[in-house]
Amino acid sequence: MGSHAVVRVAILETSGKIIASFSSQQRAYHSAATTAKASTTAAGFGTTSPRADINTGRWIDSIRNGFAGSVGKTPLIRLNTISKDTGSEILVKAEYANAGGSVKDRAALFLLIDAIERGQLRFDGKEPGTVVEGTAGNTGIGLAHCCLALGLRCVIFMPNNQSQEKVDILRALGAQVFSVPVVPWTDQENYNHQARRYAEKLENAVWTNQFDNVANTRAHYETTGPEIWQQTEGKVDAVVFGTGTGGTIAGVSRYLKERNKNIQVFLADPQGSVLYKWIKEGKLERFEASILCILQTFRLLNEEGFFCGASSGLNVAAAVDVAKLMGPGKTVVSCLCDNGQKYFKRLFSKKALMDAGLLEFVPEKYQLSLR
Ligand SMILES: Cc1ncc(COP(=O)(O)O)c(C=O)c1O
Repeated sequence: MGSHAVVRVAILETSGKIIASFSSQQRAYHSAATTAKASTTAAGFGTTSPRADINTGRWIDSIRNGFAGSVGKTPLIRLNTISKDTGSEILVKAEYANAGGSVKDRAALFLLIDAIERGQLRFDGKEPGTVVEGTAGNTGIGLAHCCLALGLRCVIFMPNNQSQEKVDILRALGAQVFSVPVVPWTDQENYNHQARRYAEKLENAVWTNQFDNVANTRAHYETTGPEIWQQTEGKVDAVVFGTGTGGTIAGVSRYLKERNKNIQVFLADPQGSVLYKWIKEGKLERFEASILCILQTFRLLNEEGFFCGASSGLNVAAAVDVAKLMGPGKTVVSCLCDNGQKYFKRLFSKKALMDAGLLEFVPEKYQLSLR
């Protein structure tokens, strides 16, 4: 199965009770939250996809409502070369098309709406509230956009092994960024613990806690899952996702399995990643870099024309494996998580690839575009 693994997983069950109570002081932001919510769930977010009316040619639902309304309803794209090679339909959700540029915009929006609905941020017209999160970058970017749209402050704790471009984007979006040493969860200096402690010390602040907050999974249960169901008209045999928090795979799989329990769910994980080692050996540790997701990222660019980050490469590499495993004629759905612009310095750079010992895994014909 190549140098990465596809692990079949049981559905990660979530149970989240939404508490929607607003004090009179929060009324001003009640409307902001309601607007955000209205443009997500109540107004049919996740149940329809923008499309043209077959008779009039007019786009139905073509006007999006602010930033919140510009998250989700992403196109579902058939990868032509890869579908032809595998004899299956390999379809990907264009998650880079979310307004903040990644799949994590969905989680960010739901985390924030959840915090507002729970009354975790006070809206009394005095000091703006502060949203604090630990993130590898993309959730932070989504949150920073949402905070700008709602007039909130955003503070991000990031491991210092993430791309400089992500830090630059976050700062351009007005977020305060703490780039902290990479240490495991068990260490109190882990970026997530630092984020929690920082929020605890502030007045009117919330730590959105994407890893434990079921609003993250709910984002995909209420939006990504239904979109895939709608866009494929229920004709989907398998879905494949890599994981960070696991929110995408958990939410999508739970929704789809409720529609059709025969839909197969695969977790794509590069050998060397924490989850691979956890499932295979019961140990929570990372052990080597992945190669196939780099290769597939360059194939996506050079054979399909999609400029994406390496997690998209991982997803597609795993989707190909799943298609081979299931045999031809199937429909396998995954996603392109974000675009490649955040990774110029470390992924689309000859020197960076050479320094990481990865250049040899990029076919020579694809190295031509690298500087
Ligand atoms: C680019 C990218 N792809 C995929 C993921 C995984 O998403 P999730 O946290 O829903 O598992 C993340 C987030 O961790 C991400 O930033």
